[in-house]
Amino acid sequence: MGVLHHYWSVMIILVVVELCIYSSSSQSLTCHPRDLEALRDFINELAPKPDSWTFNSSGDCCEWEGITCNSSSSLRLNDPENTVRVTKLKLVNKKLSGKLSESFGRLHHLRVLNLSHNFISGSIPVSIFNLKNLEALDLSSNGFTGLIPESLNLPSLKSLSLSSNMLNGSLPAHICHNSTDLKLIRLESNRFSGEFPSGFEKCSLLEHLFLSGNDLTGNIPEDLFHLQRLSLLEIQENDLSGSLSPELGNLSSLVHIDVSSNRFSGEIADVFKKLSNLEYLMAESNRLTGGIPKSLANSKTLRLLNLGNNSLSGPLYLNCAAMTNLASLDLGSNKFNSSLPEHLPSCRQLSYVSLAQNHFDGHVPKSFKDFHSLSYLGLSNCSLVNISSTLHILQHCENLTTLVLSLNFRGEMFPDDPSLRFKKLKVLVVPNCRLTGSVPRWLSKSSNLELLDLSWNSLTGAIPNWIGGFTNLFYLDLSNNSFTGEIPKSLTMLQSLISQNTSAEEPYPDFSFYLYRFGRAQPYNHVFRFPPTLELSLNNLSGPIWEEFGNLKSLHVFNLNDNRLSGHIPSSLSGMTRLEVLDLSNNHLSGSIPVSLQKLTLLSKFSVANNSLSGRIPTGGQFQTFPNSSFEGNDVCGDHRFDCQAYTPDLQRPSTSDESDNSGSDFALDFSYGVALGFGLSFVVVIAFRQKLFRF
Ligand SMILES: *[C@@H]1O[C@H](CO)[C@@H](O)[C@H](O)[C@H]1NC(C)=O
Ligand SMILES: *[C@@H]1O[C@H](CO)[C@@H](O)[C@H](O)[C@H]1NC(C)=O
Ligand SMILES: *[C@@H]1O[C@H](CO)[C@@H](O)[C@H](O)[C@H]1NC(C)=O
Ligand SMILES: *[C@@H]1O[C@H](CO)[C@@H](O)[C@H](O)[C@H]1NC(C)=O
Ligand SMILES: *[C@@H]1O[C@H](CO)[C@@H](O)[C@H](O)[C@H]1NC(C)=O
Ligand SMILES: *[C@@H]1O[C@H](CO)[C@@H](O)[C@H](O)[C@H]1NC(C)=O
Ligand SMILES: *[C@@H]1O[C@H](CO)[C@@H](O)[C@H](O)[C@H]1NC(C)=O
Ligand SMILES: *[C@@H]1O[C@H](CO)[C@@H](O)[C@H](O)[C@H]1NC(C)=O
Ligand SMILES: *[C@@H]1O[C@H](CO)[C@@H](O)[C@H](O)[C@H]1NC(C)=O
Ligand SMILES: *[C@@H]1O[C@H](CO)[C@@H](O)[C@H](O)[C@H]1NC(C)=O
Ligand SMILES: *[C@@H]1O[C@H](CO)[C@@H](O)[C@H](O)[C@H]1NC(C)=O
Ligand SMILES: *[C@@H]1O[C@H](CO)[C@@H](O)[C@H](O)[C@H]1NC(C)=O
Repeated sequence: MGVLHHYWSVMIILVVVELCIYSSSSQSLTCHPRDLEALRDFINELAPKPDSWTFNSSGDCCEWEGITCNSSSSLRLNDPENTVRVTKLKLVNKKLSGKLSESFGRLHHLRVLNLSHNFISGSIPVSIFNLKNLEALDLSSNGFTGLIPESLNLPSLKSLSLSSNMLNGSLPAHICHNSTDLKLIRLESNRFSGEFPSGFEKCSLLEHLFLSGNDLTGNIPEDLFHLQRLSLLEIQENDLSGSLSPELGNLSSLVHIDVSSNRFSGEIADVFKKLSNLEYLMAESNRLTGGIPKSLANSKTLRLLNLGNNSLSGPLYLNCAAMTNLASLDLGSNKFNSSLPEHLPSCRQLSYVSLAQNHFDGHVPKSFKDFHSLSYLGLSNCSLVNISSTLHILQHCENLTTLVLSLNFRGEMFPDDPSLRFKKLKVLVVPNCRLTGSVPRWLSKSSNLELLDLSWNSLTGAIPNWIGGFTNLFYLDLSNNSFTGEIPKSLTMLQSLISQNTSAEEPYPDFSFYLYRFGRAQPYNHVFRFPPTLELSLNNLSGPIWEEFGNLKSLHVFNLNDNRLSGHIPSSLSGMTRLEVLDLSNNHLSGSIPVSLQKLTLLSKFSVANNSLSGRIPTGGQFQTFPNSSFEGNDVCGDHRFDCQAYTPDLQRPSTSDESDNSGSDFALDFSYGVALGFGLSFVVVIAFRQKLFRF
């Protein structure tokens, strides 16, 4: 008993004494002075300094944001020598800018350095590439420039990520020579040039290699094909050439390979039997020839196959009985010349299919009636004939949401058979087919429609009023047809253009739509990311521009040019607060340009050319930025361009209610249908959306 009693007393005293020592000495136990000094040099070059980083006597850098040491403070009690070292430095997405100092070389014990997603610029200090204990280096998504050194001395490195910077020069050869544990290399989205680096022989543990989005040239070096563990290889968007050689079959762990947008040529080697884990094969936009090799057409594991935009030819055959996992197939823009593959519906998982722009013989097979898994079908420019039978077959695809049929059916009649019904359709794209007839009534039953493009046809009659009832419609292009009559007022009530309630976000995981706007191609992975658009230009529409269009707060593009619209430009259009493009040119509009349009701060393209407008050109807001051509062919004047002195004074008095609308409330209802003729240059904001969609 007594012994035990003594034992407990001693223990309690010891604990109390230790606690006292701890609390009195914890003040002086900071991180190692050499680390502290290195960190000071590091942060002095950067801003903003993280709040917790204070360099006073009691500052323990191990407690700072983003820093981990190899011992927690509670254990430091037993470490009077203070051997505590900084092992991790992780300041991700902290808006840091400035440069990296060479002081890093002194953080010898660093195992993880992660400064990704900041704005750090300048070159990467060479000392970083000599950190013996570093296992993970991530400087991705910054503004680093310059070269990476030829010689790397990072024996512990497992993960190297320098992607999305502006690094240039050539890539170091023998990258694993001193770093044999490397599993992940990410160098994509930089400006590296020169030959594809060789010397992968020591990268035997490498699993993921990303080199895409650089300017690499030459062939894939042979020693890359030794990498038995490589499961992901992304080398797309470079300037690589040569063939997809038989050695590819040696990469037996490969799951994901992307070689798109290079200059690979020749036939695809028949080695896919050996790639028994392959799920994603992307090789679009190369110069591949020949057919789809047999082993590929029988792959049981493949989920995604994208060989679009090559020169593949011959008959198209896939063994759907074997391809039980295939979900996405893009073979668009090739030279396949059979009939459309009848057996495709037996690929039971297949839901995204693009066969656009091939030399198919023109008929959608009857078997497509049973294509239950099909969600997306792109058959643009496939020499299809008989739109009536095409639609009668495809209406049975119960899961079809997107149908892209541009450039087919030359001059056929748009069928108006009331029995047609596409219940789930969200996207219907049938431009440039010279279709005749009118917008068919059966379409009104597709109440989920989000995007409708019937532009560049020869459709006549009125734009049906029921289009305004599609609550999810946010993109309507009926331009370049022969529609007549007034713009249906219902279009001013399109729900998704009033309140931007993006509907069920259905991803299109492996297909990008592209939209050519303002001379630049913008990819949209989701249809719902298309800019909300009403495009009714190049028709014979007459009557007024409804003032209620001002309600369409979410609209981005509003083009009514090249019609016969008359009356005033409603000042209420200033309510379209998201508007970026407004083209009303080549109509018969009269009155003045409403001053209220100055409120459209996002407007970057604007034209009212060739109307019968008069009065002053507003000078505020974006109006300073529009060229003279936006206004020519009218009787308008304004500072710096069309001299107002030349006009009679009565044009300059504050005219009608258009200019009193700064209050934004009382709108001019005074439609004086001035007779005018609009001739001359047509300023057409071309949304060449269809150019790219032809591929689908
Ligand atoms: C030192 O920094 C710590 C942590 O930021 C702070 O709480 C403390 O007040 C500072 N002490 C002095 C003397 O500035
Ligand atoms: C921290 O790391 C250093 C260097 O590796 C080592 O000497 C020291 O013993 C470690 N300290 C602790 C508490 O683990
Ligand atoms: C760096 O941090 C980011 C964000 O936490 C993380 O996604 C990334 O994987 C890290 N990098 C490394 C090499 O661990
Ligand atoms: C490997 O490291 C040594 C220094 O230890 C260096 O001299 C050599 O250049 C490095 N090799 C490569 C290929 O980086
Ligand atoms: C790398 O880029 C810099 C400018 O950032 C340029 O001066 C240099 O010539 C480039 N080097 C190479 C090898 O391309
Ligand atoms: C690929 O594998 C074959 C046999 O499996 C072998 O003969 C050849 O040397 C390998 N090639 C490469 C580059 O590893
Ligand atoms: C098709 O590939 C060629 C190169 O072979 C490329 O220039 C072109 O941009 C690609 N087209 C599309 C639509 O991707
Ligand atoms: C397909 O093209 C090849 C030449 O590339 C030709 O020999 C063959 O007859 C064509 N087949 C059809 C059905 O047009
Ligand atoms: C069609 O879609 C429904 C859900 O909308 C799904 O349950 C069904 O499996 C799909 N059919 C096929 C054959 O994929
Ligand atoms: C349609 O396809 C043909 C050949 O298949 C091609 O020559 C033509 O350029 C394509 N049209 C467009 C607009 O891409
Ligand atoms: C289109 O196909 C349908 C059904 O196969 C047929 O009855 C009709 O005659 C065809 N029309 C034309 C113009 O070939
Ligand atoms: C209108 O469409 C036709 C094809 O239907 C095309 O030839 C013409 O260039 C288009 N007009 C304009 C102005 O875009």
